Amino acid sequence: IRTAAVIPAAGRGVRLGPGAPKALRALNGTPMLIHAVRALAASRAVSLVVVVAPPDGAGEVKSLLDAHALPERTDFLVVPGGESRQESVKLGLDALPAAYDIVLVHDAARPLVPVDTVDAVIEAVREGAPAVVPALPLADTVKEVEPAAAAGEPEPVVATPERARLRAVQTPQGFDRATLVRAHETVTDNVTDDASMVEQLGETVVVVPGHEEAFKVTRPLDLVLAEAVLARRRL
Ligand code: C5P
Repeated sequence: IRTAAVIPAAGRGVRLGPGAPKALRALNGTPMLIHAVRALAASRAVSLVVVVAPPDGAGEVKSLLDAHALPERTDFLVVPGGESRQESVKLGLDALPAAYDIVLVHDAARPLVPVDTVDAVIEAVREGAPAVVPALPLADTVKEVEPAAAAGEPEPVVATPERARLRAVQTPQGFDRATLVRAHETVTDNVTDDASMVEQLGETVVVVPGHEEAFKVTRPLDLVLAEAVLARRRL
């Protein structure tokens, strides 16, 4: 069984503030995307990494991959992305050679995911789950609200889901390839992760333990945290 990883890296990263596309911003001097590629290629099971670049940035991303040391046993492909994360993932899937039966989808914005988490996801797919997500329990209580009609208006709370039953979902998410392809062909709603498309097909999605260091670099404080994690790893 061969495993490939698709890394959507085509987002602009507006919430991070002005600057280069998020995946190309540096963490301790190395672009976030390179950290993410290394994190997935660190798994011996992953033999191909497909990077989905910003639509006008495929050339730049190819040069970046060439300029950084990456494992020799791994193949790399770069394809241009789309308007939404979903479209970018679909373009990455379209580029996969036939030999791959298991696909991981991993956000470039989660550059520090440990290899043990990657391997745990792959293992659960190999054991027969059509879709696997790494996830963590929540520290915060979560409220569902009626979103404000205008900015600054207070928002009424609609419900408080029982926290013990909630999980914060990370990536890489792992899939039986045929199931993920069918999900992308069938589901047209706007979703924020790939597993929810598989849920909509009525297929089982299972959770394995995630890791704190697989957090998503989204806001400026996350850059500080990511650099602190990298500094601690070098100790
Ligand atoms: O915006 P968000 O943080 O959810 O993005 C998650 C991942 O999806 C990021 O790695 C981002 O680069 C990627 N993405 C993409 N194509 C888009 C939008 C986001 O590949 N059009």
